[in-house]
Amino acid sequence: MSTSTDSRVVRVALLGCGTVGSQVVRLLHEHADDLAARAGARLELVGIAVRDTAAERAPWVPRELLTDDAETLVRSADVVIELIGGTGTVRHLVLAALDNGASVVTGNKALLAAHGPEVHGAAKRSGADLYYEAAVAGAVPVVYGLRESLAGDNVNAVLGIVNGTTNFILDEMATKGLTFDEALAEAQALGYAEADPTADVDGHDAAAKAAILASLAFHTRVAIEDVPVTGIRDVTAEDMAEARQAGMVIKLLAVARRVTDNGTRGISVRVHPALVPATHPLAAVHGAFNAVLVEAEAAGRLMFYGQGAGGAPTASAVLGDLVAAASHKVHGGNAPRESTYAALPLLDPEHTPARTQVEIRLVDQPGTLSAVAGIYGRNGVSIESVRQTGADENDARVTITSHRSTEAALARTVAELSEDPRVHEVVSVMRVEGV
Ligand code: NDP
Ligand code: HSE
Repeated sequence: MSTSTDSRVVRVALLGCGTVGSQVVRLLHEHADDLAARAGARLELVGIAVRDTAAERAPWVPRELLTDDAETLVRSADVVIELIGGTGTVRHLVLAALDNGASVVTGNKALLAAHGPEVHGAAKRSGADLYYEAAVAGAVPVVYGLRESLAGDNVNAVLGIVNGTTNFILDEMATKGLTFDEALAEAQALGYAEADPTADVDGHDAAAKAAILASLAFHTRVAIEDVPVTGIRDVTAEDMAEARQAGMVIKLLAVARRVTDNGTRGISVRVHPALVPATHPLAAVHGAFNAVLVEAEAAGRLMFYGQGAGGAPTASAVLGDLVAAASHKVHGGNAPRESTYAALPLLDPEHTPARTQVEIRLVDQPGTLSAVAGIYGRNGVSIESVRQTGADENDARVTITSHRSTEAALARTVAELSEDPRVHEVVSVMRVEGV
């Protein structure tokens, strides 16, 4: 850090000047005096690394600071803000910054979910800070909440809507009766979804965030490959209508909880669409908003809610981290280190408990329902409720909700239902959460 007798300066390097980076530049400039007062030093932007230095930029971006030499830039800063994204070149740049003693502020969930131990290890070795509030749920301070506010409590479960694009799509389907394709097209037209929407709609973005949240909540290393994922491509307008009739809504959830399997205490982390009661707090999360519900032993239920994406909201989280990292450069102190002491096992998803709603079309004849109930019973799955939701001359539609049972038992039940000649079709299988 550069200091002089009458003014202290923290040198800040920015990697990336896109949606989020350009807003960081704007807010750094507009709030320079306040940020200096809060950090205890002026935050001097010493360079902005981009891919194309000739490209058009927002008018407030100082062109003289643009460079395509990110490698040199990271070596000249006290704090490096990484807003490029991805795991390629960026991994190398972030490690170089940390090895050089610079603190790193990043919004890069993909990097942390894939290379968390390496990046945290580099920060610990050099004594630098690693902050990543923007990596999960944009402006919503859930990383701080889990890492610092709840450091004295025991978290039992985390249920999150952590992808705004998919929440927008599901909300449009639920409220306007659109199909998945129509809602996706609208999300793309409004700029929520990328031209290639895979990372969002197939759940990979949410899985990276789930891995980060679970690592923080349970003091255990969880990587993206540990998280089984089902995206929202198969959710239909009919599923939405059926959910509405049952007083539920469908949300893409990141679910992480403590579980016990045959006496072994561990955790389960998953991302999947789920039915949530319309009265549940997560059901009230509309549009592209994010929310994370945390259940902790002493604190009880906490709900973190707000804008999970967008340039300015995400820049807010980045600047909060920057002030903390800069303040440590001036006054001493450190961000909390990665906490993995609990090292809880990730239990086999097959053995983790789940409640499931199955919709089937079946022969409308005496004895059919009792045969179906027999399949549930033989597989050790307890039925909570059965509703007949329609019938015509060919068959009846029935929706069966089960009590909590293992994924494996539920899968066996669904397989047996599919093979039974009285069952014409298993229309949908959906997990139920928040009940
Ligand atoms: P953008 O794609 O808008 O911007 C990326 C920036 O990185 C561009 O300025 C680009 O340069 C620059 N860049 C790309 N490759 C390189 C490289 N090799 N060397 C130097 N610069 C490079 O990304 P976002 O701003 O949307 O996202 C940034 C990060 O923030 C990502 O990790 C993302 O996951 C995260 N995030 C984003 C949110 C959002 O709402 N957008 C929300 C929460 C987190 P050029 O401009 O020349 O192309
Ligand atoms: N694409 C993400 C979303 C934002 O839709 O929530 C960045 O993680």
